[in-house]
Amino acid sequence: MAHIIDGKRISQEIKDELREQTAKLKEQGISGCLAVIQAGADPASSVYVRNKKRACEYIGIESRSFELPEETTEDELLALISQLNADETVTGILVQLPVPPQIDENKIIQAISPQKDVDGFHPHNVGALLSGLAGFVSCTPAGVIQLLKRSGIEIAGKSCVVVGRSNIVGKPMAVLMLRENATVTIAHSKTENLRSVCQQADILIVAAGRPKMIDASYIKEGAVIIDVGIHRNAENKLCGDVDYDSVLPLVRAVTPVPGGVGPMTIAMLMHNCVEALKQQGGVQEI
Ligand code: GUN
Repeated sequence: MAHIIDGKRISQEIKDELREQTAKLKEQGISGCLAVIQAGADPASSVYVRNKKRACEYIGIESRSFELPEETTEDELLALISQLNADETVTGILVQLPVPPQIDENKIIQAISPQKDVDGFHPHNVGALLSGLAGFVSCTPAGVIQLLKRSGIEIAGKSCVVVGRSNIVGKPMAVLMLRENATVTIAHSKTENLRSVCQQADILIVAAGRPKMIDASYIKEGAVIIDVGIHRNAENKLCGDVDYDSVLPLVRAVTPVPGGVGPMTIAMLMHNCVEALKQQGGVQEI
C-alpha cells in the first residue's frame, strides 16, 4: 500500500513548533514583522498573500501589508523596499511574484536586503545554498526536504530526478537533495528520453508546470513521488504535474494535490521568518 504523504499534517506540525518558538522569543522581548508587498490584484496572488498573512497571525508574528496598484512603477517599488530594508521593526520582506510587466522582477529580488529575504530568492542566498553556507532557502524546495525527512524517507545514496529547472523550485531543489547526499539528475523540457530518465529515480520530484505529465509509465516500482505542480482542470478541480491515480498502485509514497507540497511552502516561509527574527534579535539558540 502506498504511503500518502500528508503535507497538511506536517505543515501544521511545523507551524505549531514555530508558534512555540515565537512565544519563547516574545518572553525575551524579541518579536518581528513580515512586510508583504503585492503590486496589482492578481486573484491567485491575493489568495497566497492572504494565506501568508494568516499563517503569520497563527505563529504569532506581525505582518504588515502593502497593497500597491497595478500601475506602480519600478522606482516606487524600489523606494518602498529601500524604506523597509532600513526599518528595524521589519525583520522579513516578501514581494509576491509575479510583479506587473513594467517592473523588472530581478531588480526587485536583488533590492531586498539578503538578511530580510525570507523567500530565499536573492543571489546572495542562492549562492550561500550552493556553497553550503547559512542563508535563507527557497520555501517550496525546503518544504519538500521536510516532507521527506518527516515521513522517514531516506535520501542519502538514493537516485533523485528533479523534473524542472526554475530558480524558485527546480534548481534549489536539486542542490538541497545533493546536500542530503542523493545522486541528483535535473531533467527538463529539452531532456531526451525523459521517460527512461525518470524511471531511474528512487525519488522523483516533479516541478514541470504541466498537468498530469507524469504517469505510471515514467515510474520505477517502489519510487517516492513528490508532486510540486498545481493546476485547475476543465472541471475546476485541482491536479498536479503527476497523474496521481495512474501512479498510486506502483509507488512507495506520493504527495497528493492538494494537501501535499502546497501547504509546506507557507510553513517554510514561516520558518524563514522566525530565523530572520532570531538573527536580527541576536538570538543563537532558544
Ligand atoms: N509567487 C509564487 N510563488 C511565490 C513564492 O514562493 N514567493 C513569492 N514572493 N511569490 C511567489
